[in-house]
Amino acid sequence: MVSKMPLVNERDLLIPALKERRAVGAFNANNMEMIQAFIWAAEEVSKELGEPVDLIIQLSPGASKYAGWALGSGMVKIAASETDIRVALNLDHATEIDQVRKALDMGFTAVLFDGSALPFEENIRMTRQVVEMCHAKGVPVEAELGKIPKIEDYFTASDIAWLRSLPAAEAVRIIRERAGKSVEDLMAKPEDVETFISKTRCDFLAAAFGSIHGIWDDIWPVRVDRLIKIQERTSIPLVSHGSSGILMSPKDVREKGIKLAEGEGTLLDAIQTGGVTKVNVATALSIAFIEGFIQAYQANPSEKDFRKLGGPARDKVKEKTKLYMRLFAGRV
Ligand code: G3H
Ligand code: ZN
Repeated sequence: MVSKMPLVNERDLLIPALKERRAVGAFNANNMEMIQAFIWAAEEVSKELGEPVDLIIQLSPGASKYAGWALGSGMVKIAASETDIRVALNLDHATEIDQVRKALDMGFTAVLFDGSALPFEENIRMTRQVVEMCHAKGVPVEAELGKIPKIEDYFTASDIAWLRSLPAAEAVRIIRERAGKSVEDLMAKPEDVETFISKTRCDFLAAAFGSIHGIWDDIWPVRVDRLIKIQERTSIPLVSHGSSGILMSPKDVREKGIKLAEGEGTLLDAIQTGGVTKVNVATALSIAFIEGFIQAYQANPSEKDFRKLGGPARDKVKEKTKLYMRLFAGRV
């Protein structure tokens, strides 16, 4: 196979992005169609903007198990070898050493070790162990400080379905009432930042600043004031998690009629003033795939050819990914 562009080290994508106050999208893939959608989106947006768009494709341990570690990472490696887009492959939310070991064996070019469920000192100890393993192979490590909860921590599946049917401002009001205080308590403490980074020697920091994993449709404001305090304590790239739910830009705030409280802001604010350089998106893209598939099926319920359903689903993922890529490049 002729390799156009093998995987690149995630450090080589994030350090230049940090200097230029833009972000690189880190998109979670669960199948071949999503990998293609991310790469095609990057190719199309690069052409449109007249500048290269970099890409991080992420596989969680769950996705790696679902596809098989070799096949999942293998698809990303082959796709990267067939494009001029610079692609890094990140293991997302590893919680066990064995998962990290597998990722290193498979040639992942970044690892997120998520020790956020552990007590602070234990998080430091485990992360440090992962950093030693990864740095020995030149692979950078993202670490998590504070905790980014999941929407399921606060609402049942049927509550979530109901919330999704409400106008954005109403859904935000209800989520604030139920989860707001807890999410705030879980945010990273600026005074822990220097100790955590110097003891773990992590390369990138996923510090919790008020986002929640698994919200849909870009409706949730984040605490940019806290993020700025965190950024003042470090010069390494910061990572936004749970980004599917975060309001994209001030335009989004106006259009959805969301009232921002003191210190709150959008994803664009987090990138342009808060040092966020890597933006993780999963749920919105998974929803795009599922909705694209269902719509295509509903339009032709007698369709038996998988490709006639998988293709439109892939297109939906690609279009949504392009919106993020333009935003991360500062074009809104
Ligand atoms: O690590 C993955 C992300 O934080 C994805 O969060 O599903 O809310 O977009 P999301
Ligand atoms: Zn995450």
